[in-house]
Amino acid sequence: MQSLKAQIDTKRLPNHIAIIMDGNGRWAKEKGQDRLYGHFQGVESVRNIVEGCAELGIGYLTLYAFSTENWGRPRQEVAGLMELLVQTIRKETETLNKNNIKLHVIGDLEMMPADAVNELNESIAMTGKNTGLNLVMALSYSSRWELAQAAKRIAEEVKAGKTDPGSITPDSFAQYLCTATFPDPELMIRTSGEYRISNFLLYQLAYAELYFTEVRWPDFRKENLYAAILDYQSRERRFGKTSEQIGQEINLTGN
Ligand code: IPE
Ligand code: IPE
Ligand code: MG
Repeated sequence: MQSLKAQIDTKRLPNHIAIIMDGNGRWAKEKGQDRLYGHFQGVESVRNIVEGCAELGIGYLTLYAFSTENWGRPRQEVAGLMELLVQTIRKETETLNKNNIKLHVIGDLEMMPADAVNELNESIAMTGKNTGLNLVMALSYSSRWELAQAAKRIAEEVKAGKTDPGSITPDSFAQYLCTATFPDPELMIRTSGEYRISNFLLYQLAYAELYFTEVRWPDFRKENLYAAILDYQSRERRFGKTSEQIGQEINLTGN
């Protein structure tokens, strides 16, 4: 039996994988530990999956690490998460550079503590010239916030006479999102057995393949990532067309 990794068709990899890293709290509770211990262990999964994506040659990996709604969690958990973020960024920037990984952040950074923003900006600057995997951290992020701020910016441009409302298209609209320079994800993974999107990339996931697994985030490793990619590769992506049309297109392009 071939390993899962060996079964992956490297010519048909998703260029952008997005992950809702969920289940840290329950994972810890099941072990009789504090929720923060789950977040702490979740960092090991981040390391492992970032490495796995870089090894495969994935172009973009977006990780949902903290949502706008997560600000409503108990104060102690929020503080612990921010502290963990600062420490992790500080520790891992060197490894990101070693692996040619470029860091990006999407979200409402105005809500983040100043030390976290400074640490992030430093790491973004230090990894800015890297040309390998683009690692996008979604922090203080929610899709409705992102869409509302896009609408606000467009309205201001229209008011100032810089944008003609008639010229707005789905593609030009996407330029006002935090993800303007990234391609849409082809594959979205959510861990921990929750079957929802929780305000994540609502516009960008329009045609993503969705993969849900019961595995809690702290247990998620490269093997689980490979299984998700294999599942993705087993699907027929039709984009509204018929299966026959898709078959013909594949025959024409030879893919
Ligand atoms: C995901 O795990 C991490 C964050 C949302 C910050 P959770 O903390 O949501 O863990 P569960 O879902 O409560 O188990
Ligand atoms: C989504 O997980 C946000 C992140 C993983 C950062 P949540 O645990 O906050 O989502 P809900 O509350 O279960 O929908
Ligand atoms: Mg959760």
